[in-house]
Amino acid sequence: MAEPVQTPHAFATRIFSGIQPSGGLTLGNYLGALKRFVEKQDEGIETIYCLVDMHAITVWQDPVKLRQQTREAAAGFIAAGIDPARSILFNQSQVSAHAELAWIFNCVARMGWMGRMTQWKDKTAGQNSENASLGLFAYPALMAADILAYKATHVPVGEDQKQHLELCRDIAAKFNNDFGVNFFPITEPVIEGAATRVMSLRDGTKKMSKSDPSDQSRINLTDDADTIAKKIRKAKTDPEPLPSELDGLKDRPDARNLVNIYAALANITPAQVLADHGGAQFGSFKPALADLAVSVMGPITTEMNRLMQDTAEIDRILGEGSVRANAIARPIVDEVYDIVGMIRSRML
Ligand code: TYM
Repeated sequence: MAEPVQTPHAFATRIFSGIQPSGGLTLGNYLGALKRFVEKQDEGIETIYCLVDMHAITVWQDPVKLRQQTREAAAGFIAAGIDPARSILFNQSQVSAHAELAWIFNCVARMGWMGRMTQWKDKTAGQNSENASLGLFAYPALMAADILAYKATHVPVGEDQKQHLELCRDIAAKFNNDFGVNFFPITEPVIEGAATRVMSLRDGTKKMSKSDPSDQSRINLTDDADTIAKKIRKAKTDPEPLPSELDGLKDRPDARNLVNIYAALANITPAQVLADHGGAQFGSFKPALADLAVSVMGPITTEMNRLMQDTAEIDRILGEGSVRANAIARPIVDEVYDIVGMIRSRML
């Protein structure tokens, strides 16, 4: 069971999180983020979920594909259980408060903070960083703006976003300190469950990612049952049977990954998976995992495909979500302008 969320002092509990529509959603996105977004919504907490299209364009995106992937991600959210009536679901670029607050944060955050981000280092490794977009460098300031435009107190994410969330806390603290206010909450990351870091099916030491050149490395939310089963059957493993205790997985990243995926899909702990399957060879564990994955993911894929038949309805949902998001973020960002010392006399 997840720990009950603790609200940072004086701020009402509000959850915000986002996913980039820069490619199809993967099993990593589903288990590490989306499934948990649904759980938070179903706990009755106020939840705001965003398709961060402005983050996506920090690296080149084909405009036609970006629009399609944004709709597909929205369909994926709804198919996975996000209810647009209970959660706010929208795409970032429709709410200008994000870009506006990001600019303020560009002036609060320091170059050195950005330069230390491992994502920046990874994405520019072996390449001339002079050629990376300025947006890619400033990416974490926009991410902090996403969160703090709503004064969100908790952000469910996978393990890979931890450093960005620490930066968000640093930005909030520096803003509060620079201007002598207690305006922004020091947001808590919520990184929990068995699948906070789903690894590649081809290499258990690398994160499963939509940008991996090998499609065999990941399960996509759009994969059909056959493809899912085939990818799991071909997943890299070692020749040993599964251990009965967690300790036995220590130096076996590929085996550990499959056990964690099983646990997350079945809503049990990795220890329980080993209690049930300890001693089993991969020849029998993989088909059991494939059946489980197909039974969980299959209905989501089917529903997502059905929703994609009516893109006007998806656009309508995103539009409605944007109006609701704007109603929360606008007054917060207006207050930020006031704190910073800007004149707001227009009559718009
Ligand atoms: P993105 O789009 O890379 O991933 C979206 C979410 O999925 C999680 N995730 C994973 N979890 C477990 N295993 C994996 N292999 C895996 N791959 C991805 C990520 O941790 C994330 O929670 N910068 C963010 C998007 C963002 C955001 C925000 C998130 C922009 N603004 C504000 C939270 C709050 C990103 O690129 O996530």
